[in-house]
Amino acid sequence: MAYQNSPHIIDETPGLKYYCTCGKSANKPYCDGAHDRENTGKTPTEFLVQNNKRMAICDCGKTGNPPFCDGTHSK
Ligand code: FES
Repeated sequence: MAYQNSPHIIDETPGLKYYCTCGKSANKPYCDGAHDRENTGKTPTEFLVQNNKRMAICDCGKTGNPPFCDGTHSK
């Protein structure tokens, strides 16, 4: 699985999350350890979600505001 040219829109729940930044996870937008297995040199973005909320998580790997989509994929 590779990077996509659109964000993952998810209804997130509170807690500490690890979002994939390598594009190889089979469980996007979450890290599944593929970055290590495939020696991508990337690490997941750790983020503490405080409340239930809808989030747009970057999946193009180019955002300037990880883990969130900042629209860079469409530029
Ligand atoms: S699987 Fe992509 S960062 Fe962990």
